[in-house]
Amino acid sequence: MNEEQRKQQQTAVKSPDKKSVKDYSKYFDTTYVPPSLKEAKKRGKEEVAYQENFQISEQYRGLGTGKKFYIRTYGCQMNEHDTEVMAGIFTALGFEHTDSVDDANVILLNTCAIRENAENKVFGELGHFKALKRERPDLLLGVCGCMSQEESVVSKILKTYQHVDMIFGTHNIHRLPEILDNAYKSKEMVVEVWSKEGDVIENLPRKRKGNIKAWVNIMYGCDKFCTYCIVPYTRGKERSRRPEDIIQEVRHLAAQGYKEVTLLGQNVNAYGKDFKDMEYGLGHLMDELRKIDIPRIRFTTSHPRDFDDHLIDVLAKGGNLLDHIHLPVQSGSSECLKIMARKYTREHYLELVRKIKEAIPNASLTTDIIVGFPNETDEQFEETISLYKEVGFDSAYTFIYSPREGTPAAKMKDNVPMNVKKQRLQRLNALVNETSAQKMKEYDGKIVNVLVEGESKNNPDVLAGYTEKNKLVNFKGPKTSIGQIVKVKITETKTWSLNGEMIEEEIGVE
Ligand code: 5AD
Ligand code: SF4
Repeated sequence: MNEEQRKQQQTAVKSPDKKSVKDYSKYFDTTYVPPSLKEAKKRGKEEVAYQENFQISEQYRGLGTGKKFYIRTYGCQMNEHDTEVMAGIFTALGFEHTDSVDDANVILLNTCAIRENAENKVFGELGHFKALKRERPDLLLGVCGCMSQEESVVSKILKTYQHVDMIFGTHNIHRLPEILDNAYKSKEMVVEVWSKEGDVIENLPRKRKGNIKAWVNIMYGCDKFCTYCIVPYTRGKERSRRPEDIIQEVRHLAAQGYKEVTLLGQNVNAYGKDFKDMEYGLGHLMDELRKIDIPRIRFTTSHPRDFDDHLIDVLAKGGNLLDHIHLPVQSGSSECLKIMARKYTREHYLELVRKIKEAIPNASLTTDIIVGFPNETDEQFEETISLYKEVGFDSAYTFIYSPREGTPAAKMKDNVPMNVKKQRLQRLNALVNETSAQKMKEYDGKIVNVLVEGESKNNPDVLAGYTEKNKLVNFKGPKTSIGQIVKVKITETKTWSLNGEMIEEEIGVE
């Protein structure tokens, strides 16, 4: 997107009963262009633009002096990480963080659009904040994240939630200083949502949550266009960060004492496909990262279609590359997968699993599954059940299909009644729970490596952490072990967690 197009999408919007857009021309020189899912679908041929050195303009420094910000995050780890970036920008502007809306001067809802219930929660919250805005008119209320990229959501907010002060999209996060400044000056709803964006911006400030585990974006966007999914529209086209920037960030995290890094992207296996100057994929990146002195490296989320042999070979080298792979399958029926436009069959998926298990015998796999996709038959659902058993997943995130406006699946006729969808979900969940409990039983008496994150949520006398395969372990141990990787002997297994005792000896591992 060039500067001209960019300007065309930068907007201040008037609520219908307030003053006209023209009055705000001193802040904005263009008319409002709503976000467009249709525009977002057009994948530009233009090259990815890299902005190497993001800087906050001096004129905005001090904007937040004496003020506090509060961000509520919905959805996936990508959103969590975006929140860290926004928190970094707020902090650089002089704002202080608060955990309570009561003393916040700015409240941001970083939203998720993946299913309808995620959206409904946000609309509910916006309704609640109306009273707060009435009490404290100086409070700024903002909506950002994936929902802001949807035309229908922006229209609904403009019409029904006029107490919102700003809406900005997933491609506009780095513009937060300008957006805040505009919102303070104009007292009108500021909407800045770019429909598509090819940029990768480096050197964004980040205020990371905790100092043990960190997320590192390796790529943005998704070009897969699975027929049910809104993400390719809300997150734009696939664009990868340059390896040297990622490697430098991971090195820096290692030097700061972080113990675990999760590489993030909507489809990490497509990493590097957009590089014009070199053949470089996730396998190459992981091969470099494994040499860095950081104990644990994970990645999420994978797409089976792009999971190549080179990556499997590199993962098989082990070391700090963990052998837990989250590999969303979505359905066990080739017919359903075809209508979902997943671009692989049941057989391809099973073959990929076979290759992974052959190269990494200890690998554990988890997955995502959608039930009740339009016209899914009983037989097709049974194929999902049988695939689940055949692969032997450790666990799964399971969902009832939720139509998303603007996606191809939302236009499909659906003959599966909601009660049937719910029954299928229940049956699948029973299988997921049963398998998880069985897998957990195998840990009884074993010794596992646990990265200790802190006190358990339910009991401050107990510590909690995660194994290499991402199993939650609660155990008694000294507080000094927080932030360390320790050996824990498992004494009791549950469906979703393990209990154990910390041991000193260096014997046996997971
Ligand atoms: N309805 C239900 N589940 C969905 N997912 C993505 N889109 C939808 C939808 N429209 C699920 C997929 C994906 C996970 C993040 O959310 O399983 O892997
Ligand atoms: Fe994350 Fe997707 Fe939800 Fe956006 S829509 S927050 S990318 S899960």
